Amino acid sequence: MDAVKVGICGLGTVGYGSFTVLKNNSEEIARRVGQQVVVTQIASRALKADQDIGNIPFTTDVMEVVQNPEIDIVLELIGGVELALKLVLTAIENGKHVVTANKALIALHGNEIFAAAKAKNVIVAYEAAVAGGIPIIKGLREGLASNHIQWIAGIINGTSNFILSEMREKGSDFSAVLKQAQELGYAEADPTFDIEGIDAAHKLTILSSIAFGIPLQFEKAYTEGISEITIADIRNAEELGYRIKHLGLSAKTEEGIELRVHPALINEENLLANVNGVMNAVMVNGDAVGSTLYYGAGAGAMPTGAAVVSDVVDVVRNMRGLAGSVPALAFEADALSDTKILPIESVESAYYLRISVKDKAGVMADITEILGDLNINIEAIIQKDKGTNAQIREEDQLKTVIILTHKVKESVMLKAIGKIESLGAVAKKVTMIRVADLGDE
Ligand code: HSE
Repeated sequence: MDAVKVGICGLGTVGYGSFTVLKNNSEEIARRVGQQVVVTQIASRALKADQDIGNIPFTTDVMEVVQNPEIDIVLELIGGVELALKLVLTAIENGKHVVTANKALIALHGNEIFAAAKAKNVIVAYEAAVAGGIPIIKGLREGLASNHIQWIAGIINGTSNFILSEMREKGSDFSAVLKQAQELGYAEADPTFDIEGIDAAHKLTILSSIAFGIPLQFEKAYTEGISEITIADIRNAEELGYRIKHLGLSAKTEEGIELRVHPALINEENLLANVNGVMNAVMVNGDAVGSTLYYGAGAGAMPTGAAVVSDVVDVVRNMRGLAGSVPALAFEADALSDTKILPIESVESAYYLRISVKDKAGVMADITEILGDLNINIEAIIQKDKGTNAQIREEDQLKTVIILTHKVKESVMLKAIGKIESLGAVAKKVTMIRVADLGDE
């Protein structure tokens, strides 16, 4: 039987990782699919000194690969959006299957790409786009296909998780750890994508679509980063029995679908609270199965390469008719629902508040009265004494008040915060962090 021919576009970390997995595991892959899978052409801006591709034809023009009539499957591993979109649409137009690791491309243009692929009867596979080596797309799209998914909660950006873990473990501050993450090569080319939650929102948008059977709607995702989180917040949360994690949360409620990425307090006993360093984890709750957890390396050459090559295996099996075709977004394209994505103000959550106040009689009473008037129930209050600063008049000395509330709609909490900030004794903007409800007892 003829070999299946693969063309690789992009030989960065993921591209070379995928090439290496295909090469190292070629015999095992052939045993799994019943034929040889060979790399026929590679395109990249340049070959690095430590990259050995043997005699495989090399080009600097990625479009050459998608025009190559010999190639059956194109691996789009160049990253970025504009050229990647052109490359993928051209490959589809030319009747080639595509495997991509490009989360931004799928989150922003997946609807158009999948429609084009369906029209041409080719596959676009994207396991490596979410959580690197963790087979979460397969888990959600196939393994949990009998369930009504209720919610997903994921630590899906390794850089942010590394930063928050290092801050907690070593007491280092945010900017020092970000620098370390960049030196270690964890962060995206533009680290704001990691720390402001954009990268996680791309990934969550994809997970949300295949969990709930809705079109990809990245523009409706609520995104908040970790740059405002302080060591004090991390320690206060610990005192209350929580860890702070940068969480992607998507849940189906009666009013619509929540789609949000933000820092969140997680009960310290929850498994997600104990996912540390650069590791990723996704918890999925289905109506029949309950909560399930998927954990592993969310980035890196070999884990992400392994996910890319698993998609190649799936595509080859589909080419040979060994497996039924799975719809790109898990549900049949004409069965996607138009359930609305909720604005963040409509989301219900418990909250952690950090309030800087002048040390005056009656301040605490004013704050609790505002919360009480809006029917916001308080779970815990801690007052922190920062110590006395001799340079400041006694009535201007600052104390920190930490409040943990019960669940309330975000619009109500924002109203309360507005009123608290307008109190004369409240010195600064109130810090608000949502508490994740992951079904902990
Ligand atoms: N910058 C990403 C992360 C890489 O930190 O998780 C994988 O998408």
